[in-house]
Amino acid sequence: MVQDSKAKQPQTGDVPVAELARDQAIAELAWLAAQLGTANTAYHRDDAPQISDAAYDALKRRNSAIEARFPDLKRADSPSDMVGAAVAEGFGKVRHAVRMLSLGNAFDDDDVFEFDQRIRKYLGLAQDAPLVYTAEPKIDGLSLSLRYENGQLVQAATRGDGETGENVTANARTIADIPDVISDAPDVLEVRGEVYMSHADFAALNDRQTAQGGKTFANPRNAAAGSLRQLDADVTKARPLRFFAYAWGELSAPLAETQSAAIDRLHSLGFATNPLTETCDGPAAMIAHYKMIEAKRASLGYDIDGVVYKVDDLSLQRRLGFRSTTPRWAIAHKFPAELAWTVLEAIDIQVGRTGALSPVARLQPVTVGGVVVSNATLHNEDYIAGRDSTGAPIREGRDIRVGDWVQVYRAGDVIPKISDVDLARRPEDSVPYEMPTKCPECGSDAIREEGDAVRRCTGGIICPAQAVEKLKHFVSRAAFDIEGLGAKQVEQFYADGWIRTPADIFTLRARFGQGLQQLKNREGWGEKSAANLFDAIDEKRNIALARVIFSLGIRHVGENSAALLANHYTSWRAFEDAMTSAEIGTGAAWEDLVGIDGVGTVMATSLVTTMQQEAERAQIDRLIAELNVQDAAARATDSPVAGKTVVFTGTLERMTRAEAKARAESLGAKVSGSVSAKTDILVAGPGAGSKAKKAADLGIETMDEDAWLALIGDA
Ligand code: IVH
Repeated sequence: MVQDSKAKQPQTGDVPVAELARDQAIAELAWLAAQLGTANTAYHRDDAPQISDAAYDALKRRNSAIEARFPDLKRADSPSDMVGAAVAEGFGKVRHAVRMLSLGNAFDDDDVFEFDQRIRKYLGLAQDAPLVYTAEPKIDGLSLSLRYENGQLVQAATRGDGETGENVTANARTIADIPDVISDAPDVLEVRGEVYMSHADFAALNDRQTAQGGKTFANPRNAAAGSLRQLDADVTKARPLRFFAYAWGELSAPLAETQSAAIDRLHSLGFATNPLTETCDGPAAMIAHYKMIEAKRASLGYDIDGVVYKVDDLSLQRRLGFRSTTPRWAIAHKFPAELAWTVLEAIDIQVGRTGALSPVARLQPVTVGGVVVSNATLHNEDYIAGRDSTGAPIREGRDIRVGDWVQVYRAGDVIPKISDVDLARRPEDSVPYEMPTKCPECGSDAIREEGDAVRRCTGGIICPAQAVEKLKHFVSRAAFDIEGLGAKQVEQFYADGWIRTPADIFTLRARFGQGLQQLKNREGWGEKSAANLFDAIDEKRNIALARVIFSLGIRHVGENSAALLANHYTSWRAFEDAMTSAEIGTGAAWEDLVGIDGVGTVMATSLVTTMQQEAERAQIDRLIAELNVQDAAARATDSPVAGKTVVFTGTLERMTRAEAKARAESLGAKVSGSVSAKTDILVAGPGAGSKAKKAADLGIETMDEDAWLALIGDA
């Protein structure tokens, strides 16, 4: 699309469309095309939104209204005809042989000591038992997985959602730090690390871009991401990207016995590894190394945002394993957040998918650590008023008002927060902020229940904001992740009345029929893009149970919890039966639910209430009827214990109880606390009592810890 980036902001923005003169309309349409074009590219192609969704929608509505009044003035590059931006579409997809995970965070020294304690407890190690860690800079770039087969680079993929990434092989080959051929390596070797851009190269790139009238980047990370994800590898080649190796994926033979030796091995194979990587004998040494790296941060010449600690012994890493999205054996110790002061121009209310009213600060744009921030979260009404959820003062009781100078705080890619307010600069006529008592979206009462930190809209499914947010959550990356159906399209389809609930997504093709008459000719949809969308939707009818549970958007049920629930119940039928029959606070189904490690009574109550609520349930049932939900255990069928119910009793000598449970569950087994007719295996250590007897009475297979480890291939 041609963007008239020089179009001046018209003075007519507030003039009602009905009163606009023709020449004013021409000027405004040019300006709107430029604004929306830039916003679209920032959002879809660069993953770096520059304006809020609400501001984007307002611009788009204004554009449509002007076009409706002056149809002959509709531009060839009208924003009404565009969906997203093209660049990212051209990459093929790559399913990672071993998932690419993220890291848990530590923010202070205490968190680092706790990390060490958690690991010792999990492994059953005494306080004085030696335990070595590695400590290395956390590079602020984007992760890349390089697959070598018989010494040849055959594929490079971005992380994507961790399971599936983008194939950027041609681009990766242009990076000097990435060898095309390596020798003396395992036949299959996936090297993982971070692509980044140095400060000097970033500055030079931006200078070049400015001179050529091209796009400049906000920071080196965005520049690296934008450069790697270029459809034309020649563009990537002209951008000086670098790569540090720090991990690996699939291997046909182990690299070494320790993390540090494995990194040395990668170095000797020809990969750049970070010279500030050290081994440390415990949390105190780790923190000392962190301080050393922090002191060097400004002179490194590239961005880092913390220090990563990893358990050095790879056999311990293997025992520790993973939670659903992060390893237990590593953590990122983040550097303190960046701060800046600016003016709070307005407080807007956003309504979330569970009806929560969230105050959002609209700020005079300010640069915080290299990123322009114009929105920040204000959490809830107590936070604004200067008190915590128990009523105790925060910020020494200082409240936050529109017009105030406020301190903005940004840590990594987390949503910026308002951390403080400067009372000396408070305007005299300012007034305390009052939270609305009606939902700004549907007008229903917004009520704050006892014990709840937030006010919630009581409109339920009649509230369009809740419905749209639910749909956005449904199509989000960790849920259904439907190609071509992002937040923007969901809003458009909702506004057009095509999709009201998740099930409607799956009936789109049938409703719009072969001719696709209605979708065709609408904002940017042609016959081909509509057909592609319907295919992408059909592709997701086969879907993992954990994703389905997460996608429902039930309060308190996040991605991790959904994975725990899926592993426990293994099939939709079993999950549904349990939630339908459970009685809050009592009975076998309830006890089984709250017996899942990681499921508390608050989450359990939310699950049972939602699954038994008639209107919600009708929506869910309609959705499930459209899907083929894959059983959780089906994903680990190569394990001999997949789908089996296992009970551990007595003393375990080679692993802790937590470890035994996590390992069994990761192999697709269900771990239960009590023996019943449904139990398949009892693992009995010394001192086993009544459970062993009951298992014998029921004729259940019983084995000791060694036999269990032999069975799961870990003797
Ligand atoms: S280890 C299984 N080491 O940080 C854990 N990650 O916040 C694999 N990152 O997705 C990651 N520097 O993109 C590791 N020295 C380092 C890192 C590092 C940067 C990135 C990586 C990861 C993200 C998690």
